[in-house]
Amino acid sequence: MKKAKLTFEDKVIDLDVITGSENEIGIDISKLKIKSGMITLDPGFKNTGSCESKVTFLDGENGILRYRGYSIEDLANNADFLEVSYLLIYGELPTKKKYRQLLSDIQERSVLDEDVKKILETFPRSAHPMGMLSCLTSSLVAFDPSSVDVNDEEEMYDAFLNLLAKIPILVAWVFRRRRGLPLEYGDFGQGYVENVTKMMFKMPNKKYVENKVVVNAINKLLILHADHEQNCSTSTVRIVGSSQAGLFASISSGISALWGRLHGGANQAVLEMLEAIQNNGSNISEYIKKAKDKNDSFRLMGFGHRVYKNFDPRAKIIKKAAHDVLYDLGIDDPILEIAKNLEIEASKDQYFIDRKLYPNVDFYSGIIYKALKIPNEMFTVMFALGRLPGWIAHWREMRTKKEPIGRPRQIYTGEKLREFISIDKR
Ligand code: ACO
Repeated sequence: MKKAKLTFEDKVIDLDVITGSENEIGIDISKLKIKSGMITLDPGFKNTGSCESKVTFLDGENGILRYRGYSIEDLANNADFLEVSYLLIYGELPTKKKYRQLLSDIQERSVLDEDVKKILETFPRSAHPMGMLSCLTSSLVAFDPSSVDVNDEEEMYDAFLNLLAKIPILVAWVFRRRRGLPLEYGDFGQGYVENVTKMMFKMPNKKYVENKVVVNAINKLLILHADHEQNCSTSTVRIVGSSQAGLFASISSGISALWGRLHGGANQAVLEMLEAIQNNGSNISEYIKKAKDKNDSFRLMGFGHRVYKNFDPRAKIIKKAAHDVLYDLGIDDPILEIAKNLEIEASKDQYFIDRKLYPNVDFYSGIIYKALKIPNEMFTVMFALGRLPGWIAHWREMRTKKEPIGRPRQIYTGEKLREFISIDKR
């Protein structure tokens, strides 16, 4: 095994070096404290690997993303979301037989306790759907309190199916709740994404007619969001699960982590930003100036990424899909032009060039969702639905590998020991 040497004062510490299957190199510092008394410091984990993983490979310098060895381009163009979900969770694409079995097993579990509706109905209609989704996901634990035995493959399969069956229903219900529509069940036997789409859009007063453009666009977006290695929400799912908290509780935490504007919440923030630019006379330069101003907290939403420092391969696919979907649906949305011009202006600006800031997955996705008549506040919910198999895959990997509880350290910079002074003497 290769070794790295760390020199500090008169000490030389040998550290193991781990090489990944794509020749990524990591220095194993897990014994550093025992060997030297020191820890490493890395706020935001900008340079820290938290685990070894076989799920997703990401090369930020070259814009490469692969799930279980399959390129994101190949999957987005040829696969369906349920196939990709199986691939992420189990490591292999399903055979036709396994795929059919999977769909029917999901259909079998696609019922919620009627009391879940009562919980949903107690939320104000104006509640943000991400808050509702996170809360309802947590509530499912109460209806099925048994925790998953990670050594029992059957029990694990059952738990994953329950999530794949029940979360889409919750997604459709939070969408319908906000619009005051009756809560619908569906039939996954018609196809996974087909059923999600139907559960969302079926109107009580009309015969539902499936629109293939809408189904295909949602399928592609869900695949593109399905995993992204150790991002904020996935790391959250892994760390919550590492305490041996249950699967539903871990996923609910992941949903909350995803909600933030710097993570999955960016898709909603992007569309709001583009609409604000439009309402402001499409003055793109003003927004670029604001984003560069260090005294202004404004950032160009949908720009920049912790890992991609060249381009985000998902953004490339989504940009093309946005064109195709708008064309196929016969929509002429000026927001798409604003987005493209913003990208062009930012790409010529030294501030964005120096910091390697490019459009990320969220920059064009909202334009597609808007064309599909999905309201802004539902964008991150759709992202959560897409990310679900990724979260499950990572939770499974972490628990089957019996990873230790996640518990970072710190460098304390507070007060030294002080004597307590009683309140009447302060
Ligand atoms: N607009 C303007 N400046 C930016 C932006 C942006 N969108 N993103 C980063 N910068 C600047 C920072 O101000 C910083 O500048 P400095 O070096 O002069 O201080 C530099 O670029 C590095 O930024 P960091 O925040 O240190 O980069 P980090 O890797 O921590 O953050 C992040 C990545 C959170 C994605 C950031 O680029 C951002 O806030 N983007 C906007 C929100 C967004 O689109 N999030 C979605 C990401 S994709 C996803 O999670 C699904």
